[in-house]
Amino acid sequence: MLEDRVYPPHPDFVARANVSGMEAYQALYRRSIETPEEFWGELAEKELAWFEKWSHVFEWHPPFVKWFVGGKINASYNCLDRHLATHRADKVAFYWEGEPGDERRITYRELHAMVSRFANVLKARGFTSADRAIIYMPMIPELPVAMLACARLGIMHSVVFGGFSAEALKTRIQDLDARLVITADGGWRRAREVRLKDAADEALKDCPGVREVIVCRRTGSSVNMQPGRDSWWHELEEGVSADCPALPLDAEHPLFALYTSGTTGKPKGILHTTGGYLLGATMTMKWVFDLKDEDVYWCAADIGWVTGHSYIVYGPLSAGATSVLYEGAPDTPAWDRWWRIVSKYRVNILYTSPTAIRALIRQGEEWPNRHDLSSLRLLGSVGEPINPAAWEWYYRVIGKERCPIVDTWWQTETGSILIAPMPGATPLKPGSATFPLPGVVPEVVDFTGRPVEAGKEGYLVIRRPWPSMMRTIWGDPKRYEEQYWSRVPGSYFTGDAARRDVDGYFWILGRVDDVMNVSGHRLSTMEVESALVKHPAVAEAAVVGRPDEITGQAVCAFVTLKQGTWDHDHLADELREFVAREIGKFARPAEIRFAEALPKTRSGKIMRRLLREIVTTHTVTGDVTTLEDFTVVTRLAAEED
Ligand code: WT7
Repeated sequence: MLEDRVYPPHPDFVARANVSGMEAYQALYRRSIETPEEFWGELAEKELAWFEKWSHVFEWHPPFVKWFVGGKINASYNCLDRHLATHRADKVAFYWEGEPGDERRITYRELHAMVSRFANVLKARGFTSADRAIIYMPMIPELPVAMLACARLGIMHSVVFGGFSAEALKTRIQDLDARLVITADGGWRRAREVRLKDAADEALKDCPGVREVIVCRRTGSSVNMQPGRDSWWHELEEGVSADCPALPLDAEHPLFALYTSGTTGKPKGILHTTGGYLLGATMTMKWVFDLKDEDVYWCAADIGWVTGHSYIVYGPLSAGATSVLYEGAPDTPAWDRWWRIVSKYRVNILYTSPTAIRALIRQGEEWPNRHDLSSLRLLGSVGEPINPAAWEWYYRVIGKERCPIVDTWWQTETGSILIAPMPGATPLKPGSATFPLPGVVPEVVDFTGRPVEAGKEGYLVIRRPWPSMMRTIWGDPKRYEEQYWSRVPGSYFTGDAARRDVDGYFWILGRVDDVMNVSGHRLSTMEVESALVKHPAVAEAAVVGRPDEITGQAVCAFVTLKQGTWDHDHLADELREFVAREIGKFARPAEIRFAEALPKTRSGKIMRRLLREIVTTHTVTGDVTTLEDFTVVTRLAAEED
């Protein structure tokens, strides 16, 4: 059995590691638990630059926490200015590569100037630390520049992934009540233009609160510019100074809100603040990615997800890393694009998702084998459980059995990695995220909150607050309390099932709520259902995730139709496109099944559990589910109620 194999770290890796050997990890962990104030206080002082020191390391009034109370700090300053006084000033911050093959190389000094200039633009237009900005951009350097310019002035930002539709963008602008939108004409994905400005225009029809739209030119295609509202980034920057001091902000000043799917149809804005978040992102770069000054690091995620926030922007820049930033798809122009990039920039650390790995496996070993991957020394995985077969392929074909793999468990809410190996310490077990990082106290419990025995499955909870944890849900502290802190009172409820083995290793098993994980992206069943029922033909919809070889889970929708005659084949395609338009292409159902009725409890609740069973075990087969099948299921469901 692959999952029973243990891979101890290579002695050469241990010798050079930031944390060398299990004893060093255990000592660090023990200290973080026994004297947390001292532990985090010392790190914050050593690893971050402060304008003013805090009075308390943390204040915990469950479920609300404050870290580095009274401290004054700026994330943009920590990511840029503080490096300029060091040997890192002319170090490359980003090697950027566009999908069509265009390149830019940006040093810390240059990035600092770009950010400062753009911050001056925002300042001149009257935006302040009381404002909120929506950022809807492709993976170009101006995306981190926009984020860091906001952070410089204390403007809270919310990045909306470029794959989201106009509709999804609209709900986020409205929920945040943003006055400023920063976007681009478009971006490149699979050799086609993703027309972001068009989508933004569509969304903005229903967002009267937006005063300004700043548009970055990327593709050069023609876009509509609304006079008085829209301006070109490059025109606003003409003649603007690149000197813009970073504003000293409270450690608890909001840095960003990132929307993620919950168990209702309404996405929640996960709020992160400044000091604690930055410390979490910075420390995990060093602990988990074993970052060294000379490393070239590449996180292949999109900045629109939390992985990109913490491990493309804030973590790597705060730690002074050199990163690769790639705009496009892994198969464009061919399936060796990633390996070309790895050999071209001599990438040492690569961080990606199991879905990407499985898609690459399907294309065959010949693609990576054509390129020199000898620069790689560490591999990372995130977003979903990695199956041991994918782990083994990643280890052998990409890492040439030389590179440790860090399987990193965390969430949008946790801000930074909480459970993961330290690559110079932890013996690896394929498929296990291994052990908690310093300060993190996870436990596997039953529904009463009591720990379950080793080897038994239960709910994963976190017993203590940590610096980079979310502070609240934007505009809805009640939902924050209910969703995360009331299931197991006093503990943070992750929504994941897990098992801890007899050696203490954590194995994450997947979500226990109505949240799907498609290609490592979180999607709520109810969000897709709400989209489907907006279609005039749809009476009711029930959505579940079904196992998928590549994407982990795929969206499967059961739909009942309103009176009328419908062409099912045609309608299925139409509904798929409809969901893509409502949410984004990544949410498009893999399968639509038409049903005469949906299984419900007597109180009218759709029994998704039964539907999950049907799509997983194929109890009911065929493209069009028949009335008979569902009468059976419905009867069964009613009996159980
Ligand atoms: C959910 C969080 C964290 C960045 C990307 C996703 C699942 C995440 C792992 C892992 C098993 C994982 C969990 C978690 N997940 N990493 N290494 N092993 N499962 O962020 O969209 O907030 O989703 O992703 O189910 O709850 P997210």
